[in-house]
Amino acid sequence: MENEIIQWIYQAAEKIKAALNDELVIDEKNGRTDLVTNVDKETQDFLVDKIRTYDPDAHILGEENGQDQTDISNGRVFVIDPIDGTMNFVLQKENFCIMIAVFEEGIGQLGFIYDVMRDDLFWGGPKLGKVFHNRKELPKPANTKLADGLIGMGVSLVTGENKFHTKEIGREAMGVRILGCAGLDFIAILKGTQNGYISRLSPWDYAAGIVMMQQFDMAFSGFQDQPLSFNGREFFKGGTQAVMSEITEYDI
Ligand code: IPD
Ligand code: CA
Ligand code: CA
Repeated sequence: MENEIIQWIYQAAEKIKAALNDELVIDEKNGRTDLVTNVDKETQDFLVDKIRTYDPDAHILGEENGQDQTDISNGRVFVIDPIDGTMNFVLQKENFCIMIAVFEEGIGQLGFIYDVMRDDLFWGGPKLGKVFHNRKELPKPANTKLADGLIGMGVSLVTGENKFHTKEIGREAMGVRILGCAGLDFIAILKGTQNGYISRLSPWDYAAGIVMMQQFDMAFSGFQDQPLSFNGREFFKGGTQAVMSEITEYDI
């Protein structure tokens, strides 16, 4: 299955790169900072079509095209974020990812995060017992503390009120990074170039990332340590075991 998914991702990426030179059709979803383009929708349709041909019984949980309400816990579910970091895609034409995760009976089995413009694919999970960076196995990052690394934050946590102790957490860390693309934050955690990430995310933003974090025995949860709901946008925290226990002391 993983080889098919990798092929679909590479093919989808070629289409996205070709579309970078075309005029985009841009719509607002919930206000002027929440965008969707024709390329997001077309990419999801392309991936859904591939999945339906490969496994007609599979369910789809995808950000676009009204496929965002699927229950994660029944059967095989493909979770799709066709372009993660749409704002970066529109304004920077880089720093965006394609993300796919495969869950079976609610258990994450495979995750794929592809940084399209850097041609960098991170993939793996419990089904393979490994995580890969392109064709090379990725080593598990060190269990570093907040004070010894960089923490990623979702932009809304930084520009909004200090409800989640983001200021205190940011001051304790070596620095804060705001990448505008959850996929890139998860890549940084898997590589060990960031040791934590706090944000407000939807299931397709975190599905692929947590499957690979799980493989590395890293920790993640919702607000006040409850499991992620896979149902709508929610507070997300994740990182090394050390960072997660420190963040929890801030009572988030
Ligand atoms: C967004 C990005 C962003 C995160 C938002 C997501 P989208 O995804 O991952 O970094 O802060 O919460 O919605 O909408 O560009 O797929
Ligand atoms: Ca996303
Ligand atoms: Ca998206």
